Amino acid sequence: MARIRHSLSQTSLPNPLPSQLPTPIPNSLLTILAACASRSRSVKSLTQVTLAQSIHTQGSNHGHNCAQFTASALSVCVAGRARARRSKFEVEVGGRGWRLDLAMAGLAMAASGVSQALSTHEGLRRVAPVVAAAAPARGVCLARRVCVQAIAEPVTKRDRTIEECEADVVAGNAPAAPAVPAKAKAPEGTPKISPLVMPARPRRNRRSPALRAAFQETTVSPANFILPLFVHEGEQNAPIGAMPGCQRLGWRHGLIDEVYKARDVGVNSVVLFPKVPDGLKTSCGSEAFNPDGLVPRCIRLLKDKFPDLVIYTDVALDPYSSDGHDGIVREDGVIMNDETVHQLCKQAVAQAQAGADVVSPSDMMDGRVGAIRNALDLAGYQDVSIMAYTAKYASAFYGPFREALDSNPRFGDKKTYQMNPANYREALIETRMDEAEGADILMVKPAMPYLDVIRLLRDNTSLPISAYQVSGEYSMIRAAAAAGMLDEKKAILESLLSIRRAGADVILTYFAIEAAQYLCAERF
Ligand code: PBG
Repeated sequence: MARIRHSLSQTSLPNPLPSQLPTPIPNSLLTILAACASRSRSVKSLTQVTLAQSIHTQGSNHGHNCAQFTASALSVCVAGRARARRSKFEVEVGGRGWRLDLAMAGLAMAASGVSQALSTHEGLRRVAPVVAAAAPARGVCLARRVCVQAIAEPVTKRDRTIEECEADVVAGNAPAAPAVPAKAKAPEGTPKISPLVMPARPRRNRRSPALRAAFQETTVSPANFILPLFVHEGEQNAPIGAMPGCQRLGWRHGLIDEVYKARDVGVNSVVLFPKVPDGLKTSCGSEAFNPDGLVPRCIRLLKDKFPDLVIYTDVALDPYSSDGHDGIVREDGVIMNDETVHQLCKQAVAQAQAGADVVSPSDMMDGRVGAIRNALDLAGYQDVSIMAYTAKYASAFYGPFREALDSNPRFGDKKTYQMNPANYREALIETRMDEAEGADILMVKPAMPYLDVIRLLRDNTSLPISAYQVSGEYSMIRAAAAAGMLDEKKAILESLLSIRRAGADVILTYFAIEAAQYLCAERF
C-alpha cells in the first residue's frame, strides 16, 4: 500500500468528488478513485504501479486480458479474502505499459476497501456507481461488471440465509426435494390438449440461462478481435462519412488513444491502414516502402508505447498508387503481377523493419506469399508472420473503406486479381498455394456474405483462419440501427458469433472495441 500510495500521490483528486461516495470513506479508496478518475496521460508515474501479483499471474495465464485481471481481482474481494490477499497487492510489476492495469488494480482495491468497511455485497453495491462515475472512459466496462455483480441479489431459498441452510444440514436435517411447482396459468383460450408423446424435446437444453451457457458451442472473446485503424498525417481525428463511429486517426495522438481504449477491454491486436496524401501517390507506389512513411512511423510509435501490442499491417499498393489499384498498372490497363510482387516484398520488409508482427498481403497477386516469406527471411525477419488474404472477393462491401482512404480505383475494377463472388472451389486453389508458400494465417474476406467459404477453409486447412468483417458489413449494421430497424448491440454480437461459428479464429472488425465492451459487461 505504501508504494501504491506513493506512486499515486502525484495525482490530484477528482473535483468535484462523485456524490455517491460511501461513508466512512477508506483512505485507500480515495487515493485509488483519484487514480481511476485521472485520465491524464501526463501522469507518467502511474505506469509504475504496484499490482496484485495474484491478479497478474491469473491475468497473464489468460493472455493479458485486462478484463480478466479485474474479474480475478474482484473475485478475490468478493470471496471476502481481500485483507488476507492485500499483502500480495504490493508486488511490483514495473513500468512496462501497465497504465491501464492501474484502473484494474484501483477497482479491485476500491472494492476491497469498501468491502472491508461494509459487508462484501453491500460494498460492491455502493462502489459500483462510484467507480462508474469516477472512471467514465477506461473504467466503463469494468464499472459495468461491478454494477452487474452488485445488483444481482444472492439467491437464497425461502428467505433463509445460506448460513441457516448450512446449519440445518450440519444438524442432520437434509433438505426435502423441492416441491413440484404448481402449473402457471395459461391465457384464456389456450386449447386443452394431452401432451405430445415425444421423447426428444430439444427445448429442455435451452430452458435456463445456466443450461444454455453450459451447452453453448461457440464463444466470442475480445482476444479474437483485430481492430482495423485508419491513420492519417493530420493532428486531429477526422470522421469517416460512410462509416459512422469510425475516424481517420491523427497518428501522434488519436491513434494512441484508440489503442489505449482497445487494450482496456482486452483487444490487443490492431491492423493499420494509412490515408496517404495525394502528393505522395505514384504509379509504382514507392511510398509503400519508405522507411519513414506513415505506417512505419505509426508502428514504431505504437511499439514504443505498447511493446506487447500485436501489430498487423496491410501489404498492397492501393493507398500509395495514383491509379488506386493494388498493383502497378500497365499502359493497357493490365495489373502487372510479378513486378507488383517485387514492390510488395520491399513494402513487407519495411514494415517488419519498423516492428510489425504480422504482415498481411491483401493485393491478391499470384505468388506474393512465397516471395514475401523469402524476402522477410533473407532480411532476418524469420519471426514475422504472414496473414494471407487467401479468399478475397471482388466485393461491393469495400465501398466505405475506399472512401475512408480515398483509394477508389481511378478506372475499372479489381476483378482481374480479386476473386469472383460466384466462386467457391477456387478458394481451395488459393488455400493450397498460400499454405505451400508459408502463410501463417489464412483470411476470408468479406465475412458474413461468405460464411460458407470460411467453413470451407476451416475444413481444409489446419492453419488458423481469420475473417474480415469489412467496412460495408459494418456500415450496414450501423445504418440499420440508426434507423431503428435493428437492436445494434445484439446485431453486432450475433454477427461476430456467426463468423466464429462458421470457423474463424480471429475477426478483423471495426466493432472490436464496442463488442469487447459489451462482452466485458456480460461475462461477469
Ligand atoms: C486494400 C484493402 C481493401 C480492404 C482492405 N485492404 C480494399 C480493397 O481491396 O479494395 C477492404 C476493407 C474493408 O472494406 O473494410 N488492398
